[in-house]
Amino acid sequence: MQQLIFATNNQHKVAEIRAFLGNGFDIVTLKEAGIDTDIPEPYNTLEENARTKSETIYKMTGTDCFGEDTGLEVYTLNGEPGVKSARYAGDGRDFAANIDKLLHNLEGKTDRSARFRTVISLIINGKEHQFEGICEGQIIGHYRGTAGFGYDPVFVPEGDTRTFAEMSLEEKNKFSHRGKAMKKLISFLLNKIKHPQQ
Ligand code: IMP
Repeated sequence: MQQLIFATNNQHKVAEIRAFLGNGFDIVTLKEAGIDTDIPEPYNTLEENARTKSETIYKMTGTDCFGEDTGLEVYTLNGEPGVKSARYAGDGRDFAANIDKLLHNLEGKTDRSARFRTVISLIINGKEHQFEGICEGQIIGHYRGTAGFGYDPVFVPEGDTRTFAEMSLEEKNKFSHRGKAMKKLISFLLNKIKHPQQ
């Protein structure tokens, strides 16, 4: 079974990815790998932040691993909160405070379209590969649902009427940015298993 360290301390993301992968891959979290570190996200792009996560863990362990970074990009706010999604309302990384700030900034706006974008950086045999996943949708004006995390209670993906917070992990994964990026990662890994020299 392919073992990979997932460079995150976010248990919600780990649960989503495990629900997605089923039993085919052995995903080890930082905690399970005995790594107690909070990897910084110092850059202005998801691509660079995702790469920092995978490179940091690869340097520490020499084990195949992946990191990911996700941002919510709201069109009428020129792509905000984007790469700053976790700390939109301050360093407390408070989900409710971030949503409240977003809803405040969208007051009176007619265009409420937005997208989640995920970039996964995989390092396998010392080489980096990136995979992107995008989910378009709308920011609604009030909280709906209690599942998920982050901006899930106010994001309705295109193709459904429920927020991500009103869906099971499996349902969210069908639409989600992270699900789409994971799908690309998995086809890459399956192909690698079949053709290890490529
Ligand atoms: P990170 O930097 O990739 O951990 O994510 C930045 C922030 O984006 C998180 O703190 C969440 O607020 C938000 N976020 C990331 N993924 C999701 C998601 O799937 N649903 C809702 N919010 C998310």
